Amino acid sequence: MKETDLIIIGAGPGGYKAAVYAAKHGLKVVIFEDVNVGGTCLNVGCIPTKTYVHSATFGEAVERQPQVVEALRGGVETLLSHPNITLVREKAKFIDAGTIEASPSGEVWRGANIIVATGSSAKMLPIPGADRQNVGSSTELLALKELPKRLCIIGAGVIGMEFASVFQKFGSEVTVVEYLKECLPMVDSDIAKRLRKLLEKRGITFYMGAGVKSIDGSTVLFEQKGKEVSVEADFILIATGRKANTEGLNLEAAGIALAPNGTIPVDEHFKAKTLSNSPLKGEKTSEENLPLTGEDTGQKVSPLRGDLEGSSIFAIGDVNGRQMLAHAAEMQGIHVVNRILGIEDKIRFEVMPAAIFTEPEAACVGPTEDQLKEQGTPFECHKSFYRANGKALAMNETEGMVKLCCEPEEGKLLSAHVFGAHAADIVQEVTAFITLGATLRQLRETVHIHPTLSEVLIEVN
Ligand code: NAI
Repeated sequence: MKETDLIIIGAGPGGYKAAVYAAKHGLKVVIFEDVNVGGTCLNVGCIPTKTYVHSATFGEAVERQPQVVEALRGGVETLLSHPNITLVREKAKFIDAGTIEASPSGEVWRGANIIVATGSSAKMLPIPGADRQNVGSSTELLALKELPKRLCIIGAGVIGMEFASVFQKFGSEVTVVEYLKECLPMVDSDIAKRLRKLLEKRGITFYMGAGVKSIDGSTVLFEQKGKEVSVEADFILIATGRKANTEGLNLEAAGIALAPNGTIPVDEHFKAKTLSNSPLKGEKTSEENLPLTGEDTGQKVSPLRGDLEGSSIFAIGDVNGRQMLAHAAEMQGIHVVNRILGIEDKIRFEVMPAAIFTEPEAACVGPTEDQLKEQGTPFECHKSFYRANGKALAMNETEGMVKLCCEPEEGKLLSAHVFGAHAADIVQEVTAFITLGATLRQLRETVHIHPTLSEVLIEVN
């Protein structure tokens, strides 16, 4: 049996970033990955999708995708070649709360701290026909070498909307079938509606408030307002959410019980909640093994404790179901390693920006107007439009709006919702202001380069 400071299961954005950060801070890390380093995001998610968004034709996208992915994967492999990191290209499973066995080699590792960062995979619909060859998740759609003439997308969430936008641009005839009344349930309803209307104008057909019943060959059958409707498609994309990857981890051996939705329940520091201490019995987390040192010096940490019985087990990223976003996973990993090192950070996980890479983009940080109303939080709403922005006009990107919500008196910024070209970058600026507790006045008094799209922020009414 071998021993190490930190075992990480999964080398996606959460796992590999945590490994590199921990190694740079002197921890000995063993990271398990049985597929590709980089995880879903790099190999079959964010990066290939963005390559599609930024390719003019389907053919170009198909050709560029493997080149971009391979280049980035090579970069991650280089990062993981740090002398403090051992990359084990095998499947990991718990033997007990501090011990992991590699499969198929049977090699056993003990770690003072263990991070589960196994991500998520597409949740397929339990309807007849969902297992057919012409039906799949975004992974299968990204593997197609021929453009589907007719594409039917089930689910108008983030994945559904991004693929609808990009495949319509490539020339597919796109139909979206969504259960709810509006797309993108997590986005400000004003912005979600504008985005849907714009995509409709471009030729995408939306069936809202429609429940899919079955798939029969190339026919998708669903019900809308009590009527049976059918759509013909060459490929059917199921984009109705993702589920945590926990299969084969043998979490029971570590005393971890899954939440009803299949995720690993964690506390505010992403420490896994254990079976014997489940919420019903008093809500405790796996025993603290922290800190090993107390300073943010990058110096070598103290050696492993002799008693490994109560290793600290954490779950970061999609597998804990908190925020299914690559950047959330990365920051959670950094936070966990900081806890292990005894470094106190001030990462504000509630200030979590997100973007939808449609054309144009939509992005947000903080609560929507509807959520603020529901919470009973007093707020003011300030808007501006791209059509009044010089750079947007010059770029011929006049479709777009900004909505900033702030506290009524002090003007402290609460949230930003943007729809339009480079919305993600614009929201990123507001994220910095919100994180620092700044006001709308401070944002307005910050000099903005002219002409830029970010001037839309200081142009709000
Ligand atoms: P999602 O949860 O965003 O959306 C799923 C949609 O499917 C919902 O609108 C839901 O009402 C609908 N739906 C569910 N069952 C249905 C049915 N039977 N018939 C019709 N519609 C149905 O899930 P999605 O888009 O699959 O994404 C999964 C996760 O990946 C999300 O957490 C998302 O945030 C993340 N992601 C983030 C990206 C980004 O940040 N740009 C890109 C891609 C994924």
